[in-house]
Amino acid sequence: MAINTDQVLITHDEIEQMLDRISAEINRDYNGTPLVVVGILTGAFIFTADLIKRLNMPVIVDFMQVSSYVGEFSTGNLKIKKDLSYDIKDKNVLIVEDIIDTGRTLALLKEQLWSRGPKSLKICTAFDKPSRRVNDLVPDYNGITIPDEFIVGYGLDLDGEYRNFDDVRIVRKE
Ligand code: IMP
Ligand code: MG
Repeated sequence: MAINTDQVLITHDEIEQMLDRISAEINRDYNGTPLVVVGILTGAFIFTADLIKRLNMPVIVDFMQVSSYVGEFSTGNLKIKKDLSYDIKDKNVLIVEDIIDTGRTLALLKEQLWSRGPKSLKICTAFDKPSRRVNDLVPDYNGITIPDEFIVGYGLDLDGEYRNFDDVRIVRKE
């Protein structure tokens, strides 16, 4: 089966406009208050880098790598592959994710980070696929809402590949 990635869904220009809009919203809301930005590896590394360059408050950047799995007797568990380097107690924390699909990963991550006592905790995602949500998770900052398609590029991968595209493309299996 061949993978076709010819169809561009979001251009590089549209991504730049999205970054300008979202960073303006975040700068307005936090109004100079220090922020801990938690980028979710690996997919959000490019979005996190592009976003923080546009933020104007004092920022600490940290990363986490997590995945969620559904167990036999549970609705979902969080596996932490890489944890934070900083203590987020009493800090204003912004989770930066590449894409929200079912919402399972972020719902569990939110619960995990709330248990560490941050002053505030918000979610920013580059892309959102709300049609596939299994819970009521809504991002505080949403870049671009996309249809129910599998996308790659701008950090998002298919089996580790295609993260380096500077635009976002739809995956077709032929
Ligand atoms: P969920 O919201 O828990 O279902 O999982 C979200 C994660 O699944 C994201 O952080 C991505 O790593 C991955 N994912 C979901 N949809 C896509 C996609 O269209 N392209 C690439 N990765 C995706
Ligand atoms: Mg991810």
